[in-house]
This record gives sequence, structure tokens and C-alpha cells, in this order.
Amino acid sequence: MSKPEGFALLVVDDDAAIRRQLRGVLEDEGHRVSEAANAAEGYAAVERERFDAVLLDLRMPGEHGLDALLRLRERAPDTAVLIVSGEGTLENAVKAGQRGAFDFVEKPIRDPERLLDTIAEAVRVTRLRRRAAAPAGTDGDATLGILGESAPIERLREQLRRIGPSNGRVLVTGENGAGKELVAEAIHRLSKRAEGPYVKLNCAAIPRDLLESELFGYEKGAFTGAVQTKKGRLELADGGTLFLDEIGDLALESQAKLLRAIETGEIERVGGTRSSQLDVRIVAATNKDLAEAVKAGDFREDLYFRLNVLPIVVPPLRERRGDVGRLARHFLAAFAADEGRAGLTLGDEAIELLEDYHWPGNVRELRNLMERAVVLAPGDVIGAADLLPWLEARPEESDDAGLKGRIARSEIESIRRALEGADWNVTQAATSLGIDRTNLHRKMRKYGISRR
Ligand SMILES: Nc1ncnc2c1ncn2[C@@H]1O[C@H](COP(=O)(O)OP(=O)(O)OP(=O)(O)O)[C@@H](O)[C@H]1O
Ligand SMILES: [Mg+2]
Repeated sequence: MSKPEGFALLVVDDDAAIRRQLRGVLEDEGHRVSEAANAAEGYAAVERERFDAVLLDLRMPGEHGLDALLRLRERAPDTAVLIVSGEGTLENAVKAGQRGAFDFVEKPIRDPERLLDTIAEAVRVTRLRRRAAAPAGTDGDATLGILGESAPIERLREQLRRIGPSNGRVLVTGENGAGKELVAEAIHRLSKRAEGPYVKLNCAAIPRDLLESELFGYEKGAFTGAVQTKKGRLELADGGTLFLDEIGDLALESQAKLLRAIETGEIERVGGTRSSQLDVRIVAATNKDLAEAVKAGDFREDLYFRLNVLPIVVPPLRERRGDVGRLARHFLAAFAADEGRAGLTLGDEAIELLEDYHWPGNVRELRNLMERAVVLAPGDVIGAADLLPWLEARPEESDDAGLKGRIARSEIESIRRALEGADWNVTQAATSLGIDRTNLHRKMRKYGISRR
């Protein structure tokens, strides 16, 4: 089943002849090659699939390779980037190095063997670095990107360790932003296919009439515009994992075709006559209740049973409040470092407020909130008052889970109003609130209220 060590490689070059030449050399060596004709296509490719290395041209229409280098490294930090360019000036080589390129290879390629060695070295070193970056004692545990120590997250991790290495299909469910994609990636990294391709397809993002050709690929001339044979995502994922995101949005007719591919293990490109046998593990995700969708006739029951062999439920953030502080500090530190505000911290009241919040957008909402706070918070300590305006009011509910947050919210609002009414004269505002001045000062500090 597993092939000799072949890498997943991406060639980004506007010159089709160069791409063809490189593809020939690389495929002969047993590597899998995808092509992109410009930077934008390159970004799309790394969003969709994990590559071991990218071979990047410098002079292309659209974005220059040196800019593309930065953005590729951002999107795929674990992927090595090699510059392959005819513009082999010292300046370019230095810049490329500074921006994280592994090496600079001169085009035209005179010594294919050397290129192959360089790629192998780049992949080896990048993998080592990835392992070294994992916290000590964890041995590159693939569930590590999933932060949290709460009981639900520990259970999830345990489940991933059991399910990951198996070959069974997995259905990941959970609310928006809860971490389904992170879980799908962890499954791939924990599997025996970890070195094989990891390919993504968002079923909701692709127009219905294009979905089939995205999944199965097409032959040259299959329809107008099919100027070149193109591999589908299933074929690209051969020997690895295909992540079908938002599977609940797959149209019924496409469901039938996917089911057939799963049952036979074979695919046929659109407009093709031969079918080929594939070895792909499917991990699907949705925030919909698929069992309900089956009842409503929107999702095929047979496909549902095929996909839902190993179910994983990602718990919503409000069910793991103990992790909120840790996640908040993690995102804060990451964004603060990016923005050059490394001293920024979260006040205790701010953390309490976050722990109390109901998180309709889950971890993604928390992440976005921290990003915003890093840019907009006026002082070095982010206070509850800085965050409050960005939190959604909780739908009315009878339990008092959010009581603290509601009390804080109304207290902050009245203090702010009083201060604004008194043009930020604290003594005057305290009088209008009927509390003494030191008490108001204390509350302002506690909630981090200050004039913006
Ligand atoms: N436990 C976690 N630790 C660290 N980061 C997390 C965790 N869970 C989620 N994230 C981060 O939160 C964001 C949202 O996660 P992800 O995209 O996996 O959610 P999702 O469930 O797929 O969302 P959607 O339903 O919108 O597709 C990502 O940036 C992800 O890295
Ligand atoms: Mg997702």
C-alpha cells in the first residue's frame, strides 16, 4: 500500500514548459507533483493540500515570488520552499533566505540529481524542525495543536489517539469554529498515512456543477474549457486522507456519486472511460445534524452510514470553560508578538468575563477577539471593558451561568455612562453614581475602564 518515500510537491511557475520539465524529473523519482501557474494558484493549492515542499519561481505575472514566499510560509509553515529561478542574483538569494526559503536553485535545471538531493534535504530538515518545535516530551504528538486540558479535550485527544491510526472513515461533528478542521488534520497526522497527501475539499464552497469535476477530475476535452486533463481531489489524496468539509452541504446527486466511489474504491474522471482504483481515507466534517438531515430527506442514509463509521464530536467551547483562559493567552501572545506588542496581558476580570461568555462562535470567535484586542486595546493590560463591546449579548436564558457576565456588563455600562456624563471627572462621576471616589477608582481598575 504505502509507496517508497515520495513527497507531495508543488511547482509554482508561470512557464508551462518548465513545469512540465520539473514534473517529469520529480515524478520519475516517485514524487507527487501539483502545479500552479502563479502565486494565487499556489496559495489555493496549499490551502487545499499539505505539501512537503514548494518549488517557487520568482518572476511571474501577478505577485512576485519573493512576496509569494512570505505568504506561502504563513499559510504552510511546515512546508519547505525552494526558489527555482533564472534571476539568480545575490540580492534575490539573500532576500529569499531571509524570508525563509530553504535554498535557491538556478534555472534552467542543469543537474536534476542535485535538485532531487536538495529537495530531499529540505524536506528532512523541515520535518526535524517541526519535531523540534513540539514541546519537550511529547514526541511530536499530532494532537498538540489542539490546546486545552479540560476533561472534554482530554477525552477528545484519547479518542484521536485510538481513531487516528486506524484506517476507518471518520465523521467529525461540532459547532462553528469548535475545531473540526484541526481534529481532521490531527487524524491524518496520527495515521499511517501521515507522510501521504492530506487533501481538503469544502463541499459548501464549490458550485454544485463544479463539484463533480473537483472530486473526480476530468479528461481533456470533457467539456468546453477542459483544455487539460486534471486530477480530482480523490485522486490527489491517493495513499493519504481526503478531508470533506461541510459534507452536510453536498447536493443529493453528488452524494450518490461519492457513495459509489466509496463503495467501489474506484473513480472515473469526468469524460473518462477508464476507472482507477484508489486508496483514500475519508474524514468528513459538518456542523449540521446529519441524522436529522437524513430524516428530512436531505442526506442519503446509505452515505451517512458509510461516512459515520467512527464518529467524533468536538465539544463547544462553553462546555470547556476551564480552557478559555489558556486559549485566550495563547492567541493573545501569538498576535501580540506579530504586532510588536509583546508586553500585552489580560486582566483577571477580563479572563473571568471570557470564561463566563457563551461563545456562539467557539474557538474561532475567541481567536478573532484576541486579534482585535491586540490591535485596538489602548493600554498594556486588556480589561473586561475593552472586550465587552465585542461580545454578543446572550440570548435570554433562565439559568444563571452568565450572571456574573451580565452583572459586570451592566456595571461597566453605568460607570462608563457616568464618567462620560461627567466628562471623565472621577469625583463628579462617583457622586452621580452614589459611591465614593476610591471605590469608583477601584472598579475602573478592576474592569480596565479608561478614556479611549
Ligand atoms: N483546541 C484548540 N486549540 C487551539 N486552537 C484551536 C482549538 N480549536 C480550534 N482552534 C483554532 O480555532 C479556529 C477554528 O477552528 P477550526 O477551523 O478547526 O473550526 P471548525 O470547527 O472547522 O469551524 P467551521 O465549522 O467554521 O468550519 C482555527 O484557527 C483553529 O486553529
Ligand atoms: Mg471548518
